[in-house]
This record gives sequence, structure tokens and C-alpha cells, in this order.
Amino acid sequence: MQRRKIIIDTDPGQDDAAAIMMAFGSPDELDVLGLCAVAGNVPLSFTSRNLRIVCELCGRPDAKVYEGALKPLDRPQVTAEHVHGKTGLDGAELPEPTMQPQSQNAIDFIIETLRREPEGTVTLCTLGPLTNIATALTKAPDIAGRVQELVMMGGGFFEGGNITPAAEFNIFVDPDAAKIVFGSGIPIVMMPLDVTHQLLTTKARVSKIAALGTRPAQVLVEWLAFFERFDIEKYGSDGGPLHDPSVIAYLLKPQLFSGRDCNVEIETTSELTVGMTVVDWWRVSGRKPNAKVMRDVDADGFFDLLADRVGRL
Ligand code: BDR
Ligand code: CA
Repeated sequence: MQRRKIIIDTDPGQDDAAAIMMAFGSPDELDVLGLCAVAGNVPLSFTSRNLRIVCELCGRPDAKVYEGALKPLDRPQVTAEHVHGKTGLDGAELPEPTMQPQSQNAIDFIIETLRREPEGTVTLCTLGPLTNIATALTKAPDIAGRVQELVMMGGGFFEGGNITPAAEFNIFVDPDAAKIVFGSGIPIVMMPLDVTHQLLTTKARVSKIAALGTRPAQVLVEWLAFFERFDIEKYGSDGGPLHDPSVIAYLLKPQLFSGRDCNVEIETTSELTVGMTVVDWWRVSGRKPNAKVMRDVDADGFFDLLADRVGRL
């Protein structure tokens, strides 16, 4: 497999942290050019801090962390402390990071990197609201044609939403940004709740991570225990859905996933369904497909891959 250059745009979040660990545990396949923090699960000051904590835990204090948008494009900020805890990364005791964020902001980093690297060689991995990416696209529309692929965790269709009956959190927080991204012409791969609700952190799966016995694995297990408690209560399942690592797993092993090319439009005005990803799964609208929408996943294969990559840190 050719080594793929990626930018991770994220709002950590325990499941974001798991995704970043998976990426750093895959240096033969993935070259992480930079990691961009965005306001989402918690305010930007926390997502930036958390991102640096995760880099240090992974033994990557050399990684480049950039700070991006402080709030959604055109709406008040919505956060999810009720899921992720006060810091966004509750569940494990870790030291404050010593790494500093880069002085360049995330938006300019994204633009500069896409203009510098050969066309079609940089993949954007988004694990949070799409504010940074939409801002970069608005400032520099030429970058859209230079992106190899944008693989996102966001949206839901058959499963509905998780923050409202119709909307998934990442899209709900900044639907205006999502609309810009889905309208950009960038090749998009979407990991919706339909996929991530199959990725349950069951006891058997988590015990395989615990058995690795390393410090990063132990911290991940503690984070997962905190993160899943909310969803276990909500869904009554064995474990909670592990959303964001689906993005990195797709880059490493796309054969774990199946889906189809669809048109996806974002609802931005309806009070009842704002943030909904309207997926034309049955191709009844006549609108052109703009995303590869995933629907199924080999969940055990995914968790084996996660344990394998965390074990390499
Ligand atoms: C998404 O929202 C966040 O809480 C998670 O980190 C994930 O990116 C799931 O809806
Ligand atoms: Ca996230």
C-alpha cells in the first residue's frame, strides 16, 4: 500500500483520541502531515489541549498541532460535555501537555499544505464539525480540486440522529459548514451513524485492547469506559458506538466497509430537522452523487485492526 498523506481535523473527544492513536500506530500506511483542532465536543481551548495530550501519549510530541475555528460559521456553539465530560477527555489521569500548538492557524495550514503538495495526494480526515474545512474552502476555493479524498465521520440516515431525532452531532453543530463541504466537489466518503452504531465497545472487544498491557492501551480502555457509559444508558447495548476511528480504519482497510455512491444534501433551515444528512440512498431525486455513503462494517475486523494498531504505539 502506498503511504497516504493525511490531515486530521478533530475535536477530541475520547473516540477522536482512539482514531488518532490508530493513525499514529500505522506509520507504514499513513503520513500524518498535521492535526487541526476545531471547536466541537468541547470549546477549542480544550480540543487543542486534548489533541496535544493524545500526541504525547502516542510518543509523538513532534507532531504538528494547529488551532482552528473557535465556533461554528453562523450559529452559537453547541458542545457535548454530557457525553465526553467537562474536559472532553475525561476518564483517565494524564499530565497537562508540554507541546505547544503551531503559531500558524489550522485554516492557513490546510490551504498551504493542499497548495504545496502535488494535486490529489492529500486526504482530509474529519472527526468533528466541518468548520475548519469549510472556512478553508471559502477562503481558497482552488483547494477543492487538490484534495485526494475527504473521509468524514458525520451524519446518519437509516439510524436517524444522535443529538436530535434527525441530526448527528458533527453535522448538527455546523450544518452551514457541512453544506459547503458537500457542495465542494471533493470526493467524500461518509461514515454515518449507520456504520458507527455497529462498532460497539463490547466487553470482549475492549478486553483485547486491555490485554495489550501498554500505557496507551490502558489509557484508551479508561477513556472508553467513561465514554460508553452515556450510550449504554441511552441504547441499552453492550458497550457504546466508537465513531471516529471508522475514518482511519477505512484508510487502512476499506474492504471492512460497504456502501454506495449517493447524493447527500444538508438541511440548514428547518427547525425540526436542521443538520440532517438527506441521503438519496434509492436514487430517487435525480441529483448527482456527491459522496460514498457507508452503511455496513465488519465490526470484529474493525476492532482487531484497532487493537493491532494501538499495540504498535
Ligand atoms: C460524533 O460526535 C462526537 O461526540 C464524537 O466525537 C463523534 O465525532 C458522533 O456523533
Ligand atoms: Ca469527534
